[in-house]
Amino acid sequence: MNIPTPHIEAKKGDFAKTVLMPGDPLRAKYIAENFLTDAKQFNTTRNMFGYTGTYKGKKVSVMGTGMGMPSIGIYSHELIQFYGVKNLIRVGSCGATQENARLGTILMAQGACTESNYAHQYNLPGTFSAIADFTLLKTAQEMAEAEGFPYIVGNILSSDVFYTETPEWKQWAKMGVLGIEMESYALYCEAARVGVRALGIFTVSDSIVTGEATTAEERQNKFTNMMKVALETAIRL
Ligand code: HPA
Repeated sequence: MNIPTPHIEAKKGDFAKTVLMPGDPLRAKYIAENFLTDAKQFNTTRNMFGYTGTYKGKKVSVMGTGMGMPSIGIYSHELIQFYGVKNLIRVGSCGATQENARLGTILMAQGACTESNYAHQYNLPGTFSAIADFTLLKTAQEMAEAEGFPYIVGNILSSDVFYTETPEWKQWAKMGVLGIEMESYALYCEAARVGVRALGIFTVSDSIVTGEATTAEERQNKFTNMMKVALETAIRL
């Protein structure tokens, strides 16, 4: 396919090799304006804002993904296959399914489970285990450790359903799943298919176990910690 694509109006070379991917396009704008230097906007199609700027002198891009696997599937596919992006770091929020995944902790998704059919397109004779790139994961873990930010690494559930008729999180929790979000399984599939690197990191915004949620102020502070981890990882790739 030629660029621009149906969903991204950027030109060849507009993207850095590493793209940070929040779900909310206004988060992408906020990151560009508050964490990057000389950020230029290169996508407004469907208001899915995308920018490239620098962090500590290195080129980094940030672009929204929208919510859910169909949406992140489109953007990550086009970034990887048509714009040649090599490292994709999702920066999102998740709900905790374990007591030890405390509010405000940075959760790093070593693996992602799903009840979605996303991987059926590959015609595999079994179940695909979607995993993070080890280099990205190791670097992010080292950055969180160096900063002294609380973090936890493990498995997550990428769910298709936010408002569930039958909440099944307890069964996933029995298998050690730490948290629920809605995008990473598809991101890991898209990256695996072409052999590029992907990682999902999240701030734990609410607990499905206890019903607690972070305040807006707490969310902002913890978001800043997660962004620091993501950006320090990005410039080491
Ligand atoms: N479910 C799915 N996605 C989420 C949640 C949740 O509870 N919290 C933050 N993202």
